[in-house]
Amino acid sequence: MESLLIKGGVPLHGEVQISGAKNAVLPILAATLLTAEKCVIHHVPDLSDVGFMGKILSSLGAQVKIDGSTVTVHAAKIKGHGDYELIRKMRGSICILGPLLGRLGKASVSLPGGCVIGTRPIDLHLKGMRSLGTKITIEKGYVIAKAPRLVGTELFLGGRSGPTVLGTANVMMAAALADGLTIIESAACEPEVIDLANFLNAMGAKIMGAGSPTITITGVKELHGAEHEVIPDRIEAATFAIAAAATNGEVRIKGARADHLHAVLDKLRECGVKVERQGPDLMVKRGGRLKPVDITTLPYSGFPTDCQAQIMALMALTPGLSIITERIFESRFMHVPELARLGAEISIEGPSAIVKGGRPLSGAPVMASDLRASAALVIAGMTARGATQVNRIYHLDRGYEKIDEKLKRLGARIERVEGE
Ligand code: UD1
Repeated sequence: MESLLIKGGVPLHGEVQISGAKNAVLPILAATLLTAEKCVIHHVPDLSDVGFMGKILSSLGAQVKIDGSTVTVHAAKIKGHGDYELIRKMRGSICILGPLLGRLGKASVSLPGGCVIGTRPIDLHLKGMRSLGTKITIEKGYVIAKAPRLVGTELFLGGRSGPTVLGTANVMMAAALADGLTIIESAACEPEVIDLANFLNAMGAKIMGAGSPTITITGVKELHGAEHEVIPDRIEAATFAIAAAATNGEVRIKGARADHLHAVLDKLRECGVKVERQGPDLMVKRGGRLKPVDITTLPYSGFPTDCQAQIMALMALTPGLSIITERIFESRFMHVPELARLGAEISIEGPSAIVKGGRPLSGAPVMASDLRASAALVIAGMTARGATQVNRIYHLDRGYEKIDEKLKRLGARIERVEGE
């Protein structure tokens, strides 16, 4: 298994180009199943999760061609039964359920596996599909869904922790081909939901209100092929911004959508980091002394849970006390013991992590437990004295395009090595 060997203490300097958004491209690729015509998707990041979604689409009968950052999918004839093992491995693959139901009126999809960031139920996805008239049973680990006819309806999709991003995507995709009007209340407002709606509308769907808590979908008989460019990855941009601040560097983040990053940039500024919007780019540099800040993760436009681990690495370096509260995935604190190996002082009290920052970090072997936790460990490693080996970096390759190469171009001393 590959690891990253990082020698800390070098401030990041230079420019980095942001790739297409992982969380936008996965449902968009799934949406190509809704039409028998060819779809062309641009600005697709080179990630193992994208390769994986490509394999899932192929296994359903679609022709998938990857040419650099352009992916062409032609789902002329598809089947509704997904490969058990393939789908089970990636949580994001649940978003093929809506397109299969919309296109074929039936789907059998294995239940997505457990994930270290906490239990990740799909009850809201199923509630949405049932509201549209789908009969659902769970048999031998499969969700078996049948809907000879999907019928538009009004439904409330909010859960215990707020709206669901992929659940909203799933219902939107199924409802695009349902009879009549569907109104989703308490829909997720994430930019990735808007990007999917834009793609679906380019395919001939009639969706209004994406980006707000009320989405209206007027069902159409069929959808056609379309071409689409995926939005930049706001979490990747935020990760580089935090890394620039943590290493005391100065980085131009090219093609970042600052309008998708208000909560993160606001917290960075509160913390004393200088953030400047320059056209489509962001300039980020540590202004002076860092100040501790309290952060609570929330659905968009609040502070994203997908940046919680990275900002915790920054707070570990910041003198003073900061409290980071996780409201989306309660047990998303797997990075805490690993950051502690580097010398960070963090304790967990219920949904909150209390960070006593300011102690210098020193390098150590650490274990990446999930995608964003891995990014936090890389950031911490780049600021630590000595060498840090981040093991199990396949998590990073799932969601960050060539992160080691991008960091190296910014001056980081980082190498991919064989490890645990
Ligand atoms: C998406 C993102 C993930 C991000 C998350 C929250 C993708 C591929 N992944 O995941 O990176 O961390 O949004 O911003 O886009 N929930 C239920 N029942 C459900 C579905 C969700 O209770 O049926 C709960 C979850 O446990 C969680 C909350 O709702 O507490 C939000 O989860 P959700 O928005 O669904 O996350 P994903 O869409 O899976």
